[in-house]
Amino acid sequence: MKLTVIGCGYLGATHAACMAELGHEVLGMDTDRDKILALGAGKAPFFERGLDDLLAKHTADGRLRFTASYAEVASFADLHFLGVGTPQRAGSDAYDLNDLFIAVRSLAPHLHRPAVVVGKSTVPVGTAPRLAAILREEAPAGEQTEVAWNPEFLRESYAVEDTLHPDRLVLGFTSEHTHAERVLRQCFGKIIEAGAPVITTSLATAELVKGSANAFLATKISFINAIAEVCEAAGADVHQLAEALGHDSRIGARGLRAGLGFGGGCLPKDLRGFMARAGELGTDQALGLLREVDAINLRRRERMVDLAREQLDGTVKGKRIAVWGAAFKPGTDDIRDSPALAVATHLHRLGADITVHDPKALDNARKAHPELDYADTAFDAAERADLLLHLTEWPEFTDISPVGLASHVSRTKVVDGRGALDPDRWRQAGWNFRSLGCC
Ligand code: UGA
Repeated sequence: MKLTVIGCGYLGATHAACMAELGHEVLGMDTDRDKILALGAGKAPFFERGLDDLLAKHTADGRLRFTASYAEVASFADLHFLGVGTPQRAGSDAYDLNDLFIAVRSLAPHLHRPAVVVGKSTVPVGTAPRLAAILREEAPAGEQTEVAWNPEFLRESYAVEDTLHPDRLVLGFTSEHTHAERVLRQCFGKIIEAGAPVITTSLATAELVKGSANAFLATKISFINAIAEVCEAAGADVHQLAEALGHDSRIGARGLRAGLGFGGGCLPKDLRGFMARAGELGTDQALGLLREVDAINLRRRERMVDLAREQLDGTVKGKRIAVWGAAFKPGTDDIRDSPALAVATHLHRLGADITVHDPKALDNARKAHPELDYADTAFDAAERADLLLHLTEWPEFTDISPVGLASHVSRTKVVDGRGALDPDRWRQAGWNFRSLGCC
């Protein structure tokens, strides 16, 4: 099939490359010309495992191209996916849908043939019919345009795998057995044949599935982090507790890692966007719990700052602190709403001398936070440090020998914000070891 992907950030670029891998002819579109130049040369402008290989493979075999032209998009295919970013609106909890609406308004005048436009971006419920109305009114093909919704559940750092082998496909339509459903079932044929469950539903349900999935994931993380607070007060160990809970298949171990909490470009803003929309619909009471989920999450960052202070005899001012981790999670160079950088910058504001190392996110961190110092290796960051904070659980950090590291630091004190370092190993190497969620 021929198809296009409008908006080539994490979601769109991955979707475009994976659709080419499924055998389709794909045209990716973005208004950022630097981005499309990089993608067209087979290189993602961000780090995502396996993505560069797919981009290089399919830009070389001609199945994948990129453009900045809406006219080219409309003439290339009659199936268009929307992967435009929907960030949090400045000064509000709600989504900023500007770029998404601009994209649809820019595409509309070029649609002269019947077309299916499929939303993948995360949006507040009720967005799809508004986009459909724009297409009906502003596209020459008018009533022959159809909007469908196919929310995306990929995780950064597993984006390619999650796109090619999703847990489920959710397809939202205006009515039953539409042309759009036939087109999408054909497009995802290989994935459906491989056994992925397909849930076909209304546009509103499809939009809501995505927000609810992220709200649930955030709630699960904040639940275990609330228990971590109790564990610290009671002298218990939240990591052992989570392991014990996780064996109950109704609870499950995945997404139950206690620590510094969730960050990134999705869970925090989707949680807030979901609540904001519930408020507009007059149903925010039902979601009051999500406010607490957000508050618990932000409290973890405060607690880490307090722990650092405690470890440094009551003040961090003038102390050298090594921070391992800048990405919001391992496996990515994404620093959006990174808990690690939130802690690092807070400590810097309190007068600490911070040196950060991250295996992939240093360039992004340097640009966003030039006030911090950076080191090219984990050892260099720890040189003469009074305290080491482990804030993003890259395997590179968990593999480091605490014995070898001890001679580099001023004081052998470490706080593990991710429950990923082995306490016995560090204590046996002579370190004063603390972990968030343990006494
Ligand atoms: C999240 C969802 O997991 C995806 O399903 C969704 O498609 C995506 O948002 C999106 O909306 O685009 P992602 O932001 O890549 O994916 O990250 P996660 O792997 O969910 O991790 C989010 C944050 O939670 C990270 O900061 C991570 O360190 C933290 N986390 C995760 C925990 O603190 N504990 C856990 O047990 C799991």
